[in-house]
Amino acid sequence: MSLTRIHNLSISLDGFATGEPQSAEAPFGHAGERLHEWMFATHFWALQGASGSGADAGGSSGVDHAFAERHSVGIGAEIMGAHKFGPPGWQDDPDWTGWWGPNPPFHSPTFVLTHRPRPAMPMEGGTTFHFLDAGPADALEAARAAADGRDVRIGGGPTVVRDFLAAGLVDHMHLVQVPIVLGRGVRLWDGLEALEEAYDIEAVSSPSGVTHLTFSRKTVP
Ligand SMILES: NC(=O)c1ccc[n+]([C@@H]2O[C@H](COP(=O)([O-])OP(=O)(O)OC[C@H]3O[C@@H](n4cnc5c(N)ncnc54)[C@H](OP(=O)(O)O)[C@@H]3O)[C@@H](O)[C@H]2O)c1
Repeated sequence: MSLTRIHNLSISLDGFATGEPQSAEAPFGHAGERLHEWMFATHFWALQGASGSGADAGGSSGVDHAFAERHSVGIGAEIMGAHKFGPPGWQDDPDWTGWWGPNPPFHSPTFVLTHRPRPAMPMEGGTTFHFLDAGPADALEAARAAADGRDVRIGGGPTVVRDFLAAGLVDHMHLVQVPIVLGRGVRLWDGLEALEEAYDIEAVSSPSGVTHLTFSRKTVP
């Protein structure tokens, strides 16, 4: 059965997954790169830029790496929000193809939720961006159909993740709580309540200072 999964979603102690304002120069607003420094230090991240097997790419291979590398395992499609795909106003730029260059790191059909869809955009390396104006359930159905039996990742940002959680469509969520206080931005938790009733939740502290939280949907006895 194809699962709906979230990985490496990094939030501040006060629950923000991005700062503000977002722009082409500052995709995470005033948060800068602080939400993902834990990941940039890992072997998983070093491999993203490495050629060949990347065995000597460097980076840490401890707890943070072990969680981070689960991001791509068994994934057949991704769903992301319009604000992850580009800065405000990207819909007015016909040449905008996302932040990631000609070979984006998704390597699978990738569905961008937007109220201003455009034709599908094939990229190098197996990523094709599809633009959808659809609710979470319909978007998930389209992504599952494209995922060839594998799992679907909800890639963020927080608005889209929150909508999928609220709709009860998430089977597994890996959050990374980073010990910073952002004070403003887009908060993951607003409007959600009592998630702990639907999920088994575990926490693992990393020596790097972040806390990995896993939410696994409770099975009905
Ligand atoms: N902390 C992390 O690990 C992490 C991970 C991923 C992304 N991010 C960051 O999060 C930020 C983006 O998050 P965000 O919460 O601002 O926005 P988002 O979730 O990426 O996108 C929300 C937008 O997507 C469109 N959308 C959402 N649902 C839709 C639907 N059902 N139908 C049609 N359109 C829909 C709407 O845009 P329109 O109305 O404009 O079309 C909506 O405003 C970026 O800064 C990104 O870098 C952080």
